[in-house]
Amino acid sequence: MTPDLFEHCDEGSTGREELAPGALVLRGFARPHAERLVAGIADVTARAPFRHMLTPGGQRMSAAMTNCGPLGWISDRRGYRYEPCDPLDGKPWPPMPASFLDLVAAAAAAAGFPGLVPDACLINRYEPGTRMSLHQDRDERDLTAPIVSVSLGLPAIFLFGGLSRSDHSDRIALMHGDVVVWGGPSRLRFHGILPVKEGTHPLLGRQRINLTFRKAA
Ligand code: SIN
Ligand code: FE2
Repeated sequence: MTPDLFEHCDEGSTGREELAPGALVLRGFARPHAERLVAGIADVTARAPFRHMLTPGGQRMSAAMTNCGPLGWISDRRGYRYEPCDPLDGKPWPPMPASFLDLVAAAAAAAGFPGLVPDACLINRYEPGTRMSLHQDRDERDLTAPIVSVSLGLPAIFLFGGLSRSDHSDRIALMHGDVVVWGGPSRLRFHGILPVKEGTHPLLGRQRINLTFRKAA
C-alpha cells in the first residue's frame, strides 16, 4: 500500500492552472484555511441567513445567497444591484470575517493582483441539483479589480467561457479549497456552474459553498 499517495489523492491537488490571460485556478489554496472560513460563514449566516432571491423576471434563483462586507449583491423584481443593507432586516450586511480578508488578499497576490481589498463578498450555497447559469459579473463599478472565487464542500463543474455568451465554455472541475481568480482581459468572461452532483463532504455535508469577492464600488 502507498498511504502517502492515497492521502494526496484524497485531498486534491495544489498548484496553479492558467485558464486564459488574467485567469487562473489556485488548486487547494484555501484548503488549509477551510475550518476558519466555515466558522466565518456560520457567523455571517447567523446574522444574514441564506435566502433564494428572485430574478428581475420573477424566478427563484437556484443557489441560496447571502452577503458580508460593506456592500451586498442582491437581485429582485427591480433588478441586480449592490446594497449596503440586507433587505430582510434593513441592517448593514455583517462585516467580512478576518479569515475571508486574509485569504482573499493572499490569493489575489498569488494570482498577480496584489493589494486587492474587496468591498463585497457574495456567499452562494449549492445543494445537490443547484446550478448557476452562464453570466458575467458586471454590476461592479470598478472593473480593474479581479474576481476571487473560493470553492468549499462538494465538487462542481465550473463553466468558463469567453466575452460573448455564445463563445465556447471550458469545463473545469472545482474541488474543496480551490480558488479561481479572473481579472484584466478576462474580467468580463461568462461563467457558471453545472448542477452539483449528489454527495456528502466531510466538513460541509450535502452542500457546496462559494465565496465570491469583488470590488463593487
Ligand atoms: C458566481 O459566479 O457567483 C459563483 C460561481 C461559483 O459558484 O463558483
Ligand atoms: Fe459570477
